[in-house]
Amino acid sequence: MDMEISIIGHGYVGLVTACVFADFGNKVHVIGRTPEKISRLRSGDPIIYEPGLEEILDRNLKNGNLEFSTTYDSIKNSEIVFIAVGTPSQADGSADLSQVKVVAKEIALALGESFTVVSCKSTVPVGTNRAVEKILTENAPAHAKFAVASCPEFLREGTGVSDTLSPDRVVIGTESKKAADLLLELHKPIGGQRVVCDLSSAEMIKYASNSMLATKISFANLIAEMSEVAGANAPLVLKAVGLDNRVGAKFLDAGIGYGGACFPKDVKALAFIGKDLGVDSSLLDQVEKINHNARERFAERIVKHAKGKVLAIWGLSFKPNTDDIREAPSIEIMKYLLKNGFSLRVYDPQAMGHIRRIFGDQLSYFDNKDDALAGSDNLVVLTEWSEFAAADLEEVKKVLKNPVIFDGRNVFDPEQMGKLGFEYYSVGRKDVK
Ligand code: UDX
Repeated sequence: MDMEISIIGHGYVGLVTACVFADFGNKVHVIGRTPEKISRLRSGDPIIYEPGLEEILDRNLKNGNLEFSTTYDSIKNSEIVFIAVGTPSQADGSADLSQVKVVAKEIALALGESFTVVSCKSTVPVGTNRAVEKILTENAPAHAKFAVASCPEFLREGTGVSDTLSPDRVVIGTESKKAADLLLELHKPIGGQRVVCDLSSAEMIKYASNSMLATKISFANLIAEMSEVAGANAPLVLKAVGLDNRVGAKFLDAGIGYGGACFPKDVKALAFIGKDLGVDSSLLDQVEKINHNARERFAERIVKHAKGKVLAIWGLSFKPNTDDIREAPSIEIMKYLLKNGFSLRVYDPQAMGHIRRIFGDQLSYFDNKDDALAGSDNLVVLTEWSEFAAADLEEVKKVLKNPVIFDGRNVFDPEQMGKLGFEYYSVGRKDVK
């Protein structure tokens, strides 16, 4: 059964969700507040970079399944409304819910006479959906019939479309059987196990999942730091640890730490929630601290071992296959390097525009990795885009003034680097000199 739904927000979560549900034949309305962005979306420009998204957007604009608007007119005919707006960190680490609350009031005022499920896709602290319910109750017209639900999103940037099509699980938190049934119906073509639960558990599942993954990464980075001192090989240690299927191999890659729009924000928010609940959540404070140490340690190693003051930087986005630089380790590391007098020649396949807006003329920007390399003393790798792993290392050695590589993502093999005659610094492995 095809449904009519509305989604408020057109970031990574809102837009990918909208495109995927429209592609299943549903009528999807996307609501945003910036007219300029809405007209770009209407013309088929997804604004964000996400593999495969542009084609789905184009297809569903053409077949009329997808519409974009700055008004809430579509709410009255929608069976399901998803809230997918930002919940950024505030100074104290707590999530800023102001956008969610504004949107909830707008939805309330626009509700029609038929039953509507209002469901948060945004990551929100325990209790937020109750607050949304209260806003709806206080502002909805007397004839409105609605129920709230929490339907957290687990997609990763860069693989957003395939993650949405085949997630490990679909979580539906609600106290309304009718709302659960409608959400289950909408998700029918989507893979993954169903977890139908209460509102608070659904809200907690999202924070707990992201914090668990971030904890694995920080654990890997702690083992990497110890391995560097002890002369052990951290990737090998962590591979062996991950072979225990109680642990699992994923998210144990040591490097320069996690970034992005979710992990840093959600770990801080869960730590804050713990304190608010009177529960000792200092484990999460340490996860964050280790994450920052990983960047600082790497930047300090560059300052200590660099030969020359001109560095080529390969990779700026917080991870490969995205243009996103939110909380990207590259930002802090490059600020530190600039402070220490280095000149940086940077290249990233997607994130250059965003980085330019932060750093302006403090950096030199290049359209490809080879031009960034030419004239550089050493090379620094900050994001593991596949084109870097595929680089012709003999050529890199010829072009660099000094064959020194700082590899923040363990892209290259130390043994090969030694054979090629590089001085090579990576994470959690012995230096090659
Ligand atoms: C994450 C969650 O994976 C996703 O479920 C949630 O919906 C949103 O947050 P995302 O931020 O897109 O997704 O990226 P992810 O692939 O999880 O990587 C996050 C960060 O961790 C990146 O900076 C990445 O480089 C880093 N990372 C990941 C590591 O440093 N080591 C690893 O082993 C894995």
